[in-house]
Amino acid sequence: MVNVLFVCLGNICRSPMAEALFRDLLKKENLNEKIAVDSAGTGSWHIGDPPHKGTLGILNKYKISVDGLIGRLLTKDDFDKFDYLIGMDESNKKNIYKITGKPNHPKIIRLLDLTKHNRDVPDPYYTGDFDETYRLVSEGCRALLEKIRNENNI
Ligand code: 4NP
Repeated sequence: MVNVLFVCLGNICRSPMAEALFRDLLKKENLNEKIAVDSAGTGSWHIGDPPHKGTLGILNKYKISVDGLIGRLLTKDDFDKFDYLIGMDESNKKNIYKITGKPNHPKIIRLLDLTKHNRDVPDPYYTGDFDETYRLVSEGCRALLEKIRNENNI
């Protein structure tokens, strides 16, 4: 099993959106038995909370399941449990480095560095633009799946 963890700051906007979108991709590609996905935040404000209503709204709009999305904190142990730790922006990546104690480890990646954009996923908690976040996260998830398939022969 290949294990993927999406990470953002609050774990209520971007990383649960990525988790739901990626799980949907896996289902469509029949890869649920080969690749597993989860998400976590580096800040503790929303532990145990459901996603932000903007994230729920856009996932519902595109008929993507929101089952099982509950806020949790990134832990040091996550480094060993997951094969890919995917930050939504540069500060998330730095926070993953700090919490796991593994600076510059290649399995810690900023999502849109896997695309032509090489930029942060903007935080809709502040921008209010959940559509833009959805488009970018969706593109990033497709690029990530391609990378995982290539690297793991699936
Ligand atoms: P996220 O957005 O990192 O995409 O989940 C945020 C959600 C909540 C907060 C910050 C960012 N907050 O400060 O509570």
